[in-house]
Amino acid sequence: MNLMLDYTNLLKSKNLPKGISLCELENGKALVKQAFDLFKLKKNNEPLGFYDLPDYDTKIIKNFINKNSQRKKPFNTIVVLGIGGSALGNKAVYNALRHQKNLNKLYVYDNVDPYLWQDILDNINIETTLFNVITKSGTTAETMSSFMFIMNFIKEKFPQDYKERIVITTDKEKGFLRQIVQKEGFESFIVPDDVGGRFSVLTDVGLLSSAFVGIDIDALLKGAKKMRKLCDENDIFKNPAMIIALTHLRYMNQGKNISVMMPYSNALYDLADWYRQLWAESLGKKVDLEGKEVFTGQTPIKALGATDQHSQVQLYVEGPKDKVFTFLMVENYKIDFTIPNIYPERAEVNYLSNSTFSKLLNSECIATELALTEANCPNMTIKFKTLNEESIGAFIYLYEAATIFTGYMLNINPLNQPGVEAGKIATYALMNKKGFEETSQKINNYIKNKEKQGNILCLN
Ligand code: PA5
Repeated sequence: MNLMLDYTNLLKSKNLPKGISLCELENGKALVKQAFDLFKLKKNNEPLGFYDLPDYDTKIIKNFINKNSQRKKPFNTIVVLGIGGSALGNKAVYNALRHQKNLNKLYVYDNVDPYLWQDILDNINIETTLFNVITKSGTTAETMSSFMFIMNFIKEKFPQDYKERIVITTDKEKGFLRQIVQKEGFESFIVPDDVGGRFSVLTDVGLLSSAFVGIDIDALLKGAKKMRKLCDENDIFKNPAMIIALTHLRYMNQGKNISVMMPYSNALYDLADWYRQLWAESLGKKVDLEGKEVFTGQTPIKALGATDQHSQVQLYVEGPKDKVFTFLMVENYKIDFTIPNIYPERAEVNYLSNSTFSKLLNSECIATELALTEANCPNMTIKFKTLNEESIGAFIYLYEAATIFTGYMLNINPLNQPGVEAGKIATYALMNKKGFEETSQKINNYIKNKEKQGNILCLN
């Protein structure tokens, strides 16, 4: 395997007297087994389809890519319009791999920010750009507004063939967007019923844009498949997802309610962003499986090495002991640069000379690991020998499985996101959607009351 998990610094040692002992890990076996059994049991009744995704059938995607290459002017740029689970994985995979090969361009519009639209429109050649609208529900306000905007824009420019320039990925039957596909005849792809948004990167959601840019999606799935085998192991010491889940659960029990993922690589920063959503939305829950209030979760934070050494590490080393850390490190860089020996006589900088940037970066990663360990802060490292499709696919599957295990060990449902609903409903009301008049009235009162309280200062 191209991927390694080093969890030494999660375990009890001289530097980590409150770390988890091997014995505690061993004792956690029963808990893990329970979660694992629940996982297997649920797999048959609930949207847990991510388990089967390493076997995903990619034929339709490949046919589509083939068809594109036969166009008179093939599309060479793709813009994904989606949000949350319908966007973060696309970005993460692309940015992790785009330095490895000469890929087509991917842009992701995952907000409703007019400046972001401007940036994208300034950068693309609209003539050769394909738009992929992704929304499982087919109703998400952010994505639907972007869809309508781009459809209007494209239709004006290319009235003859605008439909060929937009492909839609959504539920196979449900949702407004599916109705549009059926009525208007856009090419479409599917978000499987049994796969939740944040677990969907290895479906048409993430695979279409990945294949389009030139990523080997079979290799991505192959990596996931190898990882699935490991995550199916009963022996906790052979199962990386169980190790991550159990250690993080134990640290949560010790009050470490923050999980920092710190890639020492810009290429992996978006993968930490993908993890942030997965861990937050899946584990942040008010009630447990019996409906009892538990208010559980572990706040995921992303930090970038070495950049954030000059922003966050002071807090990490000397601040509250409420965090567990994960470093991501790349051993071999495909592209590297040597630091020149310009001031050989100056000790201030000559130690850097003739070294590479990747060596400096990885040395800084080890240095931070050491500093944190000596400060009694539990940490682990996931090392990518090289960045490639297999290792990224494996990483994705590893964290999906670890999230599910952790959720079941917490006795919560890691697959829903009821807390996101309140905000969605309030947005509908604020935007005057029919049927939300009562909420709209409630919000107006809330705003008026706030103004009456007089705690708002004019600052300019
Ligand atoms: O994980 C999830 O389910 C969410 O983050 C969704 O992906 C996100 O809300 C977007 O939903 P949809 O794909 O329905 O537009």
